[in-house]
Amino acid sequence: MIRNLSVDEIDSIYAIEEVSNPSPWSRDSFLSEFSHESGIRLGYTLDILVGFCFGRLIVDEFTILNIAVTKEHRNRGIGKELMLTAMKHAQEKGAIKSFLEVRTGNAAAFCLYQSLGFKEVSKRKNYYSQIGQDAINMEMIL
Ligand SMILES: CC(C)(COP(=O)(O)OP(=O)(O)OC[C@H]1O[C@@H](n2cnc3c(N)ncnc32)[C@H](O)[C@@H]1OP(=O)(O)O)[C@@H](O)C(=O)NCCC(=O)NCCS
Repeated sequence: MIRNLSVDEIDSIYAIEEVSNPSPWSRDSFLSEFSHESGIRLGYTLDILVGFCFGRLIVDEFTILNIAVTKEHRNRGIGKELMLTAMKHAQEKGAIKSFLEVRTGNAAAFCLYQSLGFKEVSKRKNYYSQIGQDAINMEMIL
């Protein structure tokens, strides 16, 4: 089930982030997302939280900021469903375009975004300098 996340779930959100992202967001970064009125913060629950998607709408542009699914629940369509729902919510609030950024070595995320229709528009060389990877900027018209 997909639903809006609450700030009380920060521990569960952070537990997924810690094991999913080689450069994890801090707890404070997640907490600050809950203070943005234009934020879209979705969780996917089975019996527990197994995935999340954070994005922000600025006027008519929706940026996907972070998405992760627990290792045990990947490749079952959960990430795609989270993204589709987030983009639908953003569209209902006036978004016409969506943006995101992904590191070059993240094949799973890149494939997910491509399968949704995102197209690569530019690259930032060595953006993730600690792990020596570029950032790929992707966008799609909603
Ligand atoms: C990226 C991530 C959220 C995908 O979640 P998921 O629930 O496994 O993805 P889905 O099962 O919905 O897959 C969606 C599409 O991506 C493709 N995909 C998923 N994992 C893949 C992989 N490892 N390699 C190739 N393609 C992959 C699927 O085949 C599917 O394509 P289709 O719809 O054309 O069949 C998950 O791998 C994850 O949490 N990764 C760690 C965190 C992360 O990297 N976040 C992104 C930061 S930019």
